Amino acid sequence: MWGRSAPLSAILVGAVFAATPPLPDGPGKKTLESACTTCHSLDIVTGKKWGREKWQDVVRSNAAHSKVVLSKEETADVVGYLARHFGPQDRGKELVEEICSFCHGLARLKGQAYTRDQWENVTKGMIFEGAPVTEEEFSLILDYLEKNFGPPLEQGKEDK
Ligand code: HEC
Ligand code: HEC
Repeated sequence: MWGRSAPLSAILVGAVFAATPPLPDGPGKKTLESACTTCHSLDIVTGKKWGREKWQDVVRSNAAHSKVVLSKEETADVVGYLARHFGPQDRGKELVEEICSFCHGLARLKGQAYTRDQWENVTKGMIFEGAPVTEEEFSLILDYLEKNFGPPLEQGKEDK
């Protein structure tokens, strides 16, 4: 059954993605979609793996040509959003590999299928046990755990 249905769904998913790149939710997304799509599509953004400074430069120089004036907050949100989702590496992964292997090894994570809320509770429990996690790291860790050790995803989100 899979043999026959998989290629079709792959084509459909590919077509949808080509039209609208899938953007993760978060602060800055709306501004990105409204301020950065007048001259080009967001495909130009989603393939990049740039650090925060580079994104800051790009947003500044691109916004400078634009008629849309971004406030300081909007600029910060967009830069933060881009650096977080289209950054050079997966910081959440690094953190989990470092911190969550401290006491019991990453094998504890294998086979888990928790929701974000459940991971939040588990991670809070680990912090209580002594895991050294800052507030900023907390949400990056949850992002990573949710994405990689979450409940089975809907179709179309499963490729990464
Ligand atoms: C007024 C038109 C305009 C708007 C608005 C605009 N861009 Fe651009 N952008 C361009 C043009 C023109 C280029 C291609 C110039 C070039 O080759 O660097 C470009 C190129 C880019 C590139 C590729 C640069 C590279 O070096 O590969 C990125 C990334 C980008 N824009 C991001 C953004 C973001 C993020 C926003 C919203 C803050 C935005 N753009 C808004 C006109 C615009
Ligand atoms: C300071 C030591 C320590 C660190 C660091 C640590 N843990 Fe734990 N973890 C424990 C202990 C002790 C247990 C067993 C106690 C328990 O089951 O409640 C445990 C159990 C678990 C379990 C199985 C229990 C359950 O509720 O499913 C998971 C999953 C888990 N840890 C995930 C993590 C994650 C994710 C991280 C990184 C954020 C982490 N741990 C970091 C000490 C730690």
